[in-house]
Amino acid sequence: MKILKLIVLSIAVTGLVSACKLAETEQVQAPSYGEAPSYGVMAGDIKTGKALFNDTTFGNGTSGKSCNSCHLGGKGMEMAGDKKEFNIMGKKQNSLEEAVNFCIEMALKGKAIDPDGKSMKDIVAYIKSLKG
Ligand code: HEC
Repeated sequence: MKILKLIVLSIAVTGLVSACKLAETEQVQAPSYGEAPSYGVMAGDIKTGKALFNDTTFGNGTSGKSCNSCHLGGKGMEMAGDKKEFNIMGKKQNSLEEAVNFCIEMALKGKAIDPDGKSMKDIVAYIKSLKG
């Protein structure tokens, strides 16, 4: 009878300990749910950027075109990631972000996106990933 009590007790203790551990890990992870990483500069995500590049509604585009309609597979953009000056359709842009927004407005017929926002970081990360 004593041995049975001991077994029951040890099971109960094990259960309690693992329950505590579970609660502990949940507590540690909880604050970061669904939040963008907050370390210094927000990191762009290449995969999300590629999806945006192929999305006709990127920047609220209304022309039915995606970036990929003209820049098929990102071809010809291998240098864009390192450029400081751009010239698209006879107009000058002074950063990659400006170039992206220029094409959003002129080619996708959308609205310029936040140059410091997450979508811009993602599309820039994708464009930078294209270089040879
Ligand atoms: C209607 C066609 C068209 C669409 C759609 C388009 N672009 Fe462009 N884009 C151009 C043209 C034309 C140029 C200038 C010539 C070149 O560099 O290829 C250009 C140039 C660029 C450049 C500069 C490349 C360089 O190395 O100088 C970037 C960056 C760019 N586009 C990004 C985008 C992004 C991002 C999208 C989607 C939001 C997009 N473009 C959609 C036509 C388009």
